[in-house]
Amino acid sequence: MILENIIVHKILDSRGEPTIEVEVVDENLNSFFAQIPSGKSTGKKEAVVLSFEEAENVLNTLVKKEIIHKNFSSIKDIDSFLISLDGTEDKKKVGGNLMLGISIAFARALAAKENKELWQVLKQEFWGGLISNKKPLIFSNLINGGAHTDNNLDIQEYMVVVDPKDGTYIDCIKVLTDFYKKLGDLLLEKYKLQELKIGDEGGYSLDFQNNFEPIKIMEDMINSEDLADSFSLALDVAASNFYKEGKYNFENNLISSEALKQEFLNYLIESKLLMSIEDPFDEVDFDGFKMFNSEFSRAWVIGDDITVTNPQLVEKFAREKLINGVIIKPNQIGTVFETCQTIRAAQENGLKTIVSHRSGETKDVFIIHLAKAANVDAVKIGAPVKERLIKFDELIRLYD
Ligand code: PGA
Ligand code: ZN
Repeated sequence: MILENIIVHKILDSRGEPTIEVEVVDENLNSFFAQIPSGKSTGKKEAVVLSFEEAENVLNTLVKKEIIHKNFSSIKDIDSFLISLDGTEDKKKVGGNLMLGISIAFARALAAKENKELWQVLKQEFWGGLISNKKPLIFSNLINGGAHTDNNLDIQEYMVVVDPKDGTYIDCIKVLTDFYKKLGDLLLEKYKLQELKIGDEGGYSLDFQNNFEPIKIMEDMINSEDLADSFSLALDVAASNFYKEGKYNFENNLISSEALKQEFLNYLIESKLLMSIEDPFDEVDFDGFKMFNSEFSRAWVIGDDITVTNPQLVEKFAREKLINGVIIKPNQIGTVFETCQTIRAAQENGLKTIVSHRSGETKDVFIIHLAKAANVDAVKIGAPVKERLIKFDELIRLYD
């Protein structure tokens, strides 16, 4: 596969912040695009994000002349070349966002050349013979807190987890959308509000009595709507955002890792439907993760900031039993090849895998194709509203 040109465009993400879109042009002068999302609640070891101006500069002065008119036979081939061209640990020279944009747009060009869907090309290159085709659970963030809004919730995300079981996505997404609307009506009435604010990922944002109350409200609603068969609950604590000097600032008290663990253990006792907790501790609080993961095996203990889609970190923390599942965000690592390596490392070590959006999203549906190619356990795509609807529609198109 030979590229004739690479161009970077400035676009806005769902928060209205600037991000980049990469365009690659193939030999027949057809263009293929990739839009890169951005995070607000980021892990410290994520790949460096260049501004549009920096990305344009490095593309035109360094990357373009090394890539165009060269033959790359696979995604791994072009990504390995980009990784060595960059040559840094955190991709600060070429930029994780620029590299990932080239990588995804190249994969799309390859798929078009082979007359295949993007997911088929990914599956063929990185999962070879794997044929099972399970439907991932949907993690949908309906109440927002933490860094994604300005209410009093320390916990960042309160998600419902929807299992399509043997049904179609179109049906289960309809049930999810109805649930989201009913939850909005219930919150308006309960708190005597005129309107509800929305956080970065489309979930409702308001003050609650404590960090457990949203779980309780959603659990009661799932039960009263008779949905407990296919709906459960998940949290993304994103605990790094309220960790300072060895303590957690939780509900306005500075508490220890041990005390925070006790909170979550209580949540898991109080809520029968809570099945997954992401980043329950700070990304360097390894003891916290380990204690929690060993003491309560009912829940998925998911790494995000602690693992940053890095294959070595995922393998290490799986072996040390700090986590039993992992979030996969391609822009944390910066190439498709390494993202797929990370998913494989997770799968080989028996971890649950959740392919995830970022809080600053774009119209790009790459993660849905990645989820299908890799047979992951779940996709995390925010609330079923606005720009995120495109990802729900792609799930319907690829699976139903
Ligand atoms: P981010 O957070 O996309 O704002 O970094 C999402 C998450 O923590 O899962
Ligand atoms: Zn997270």
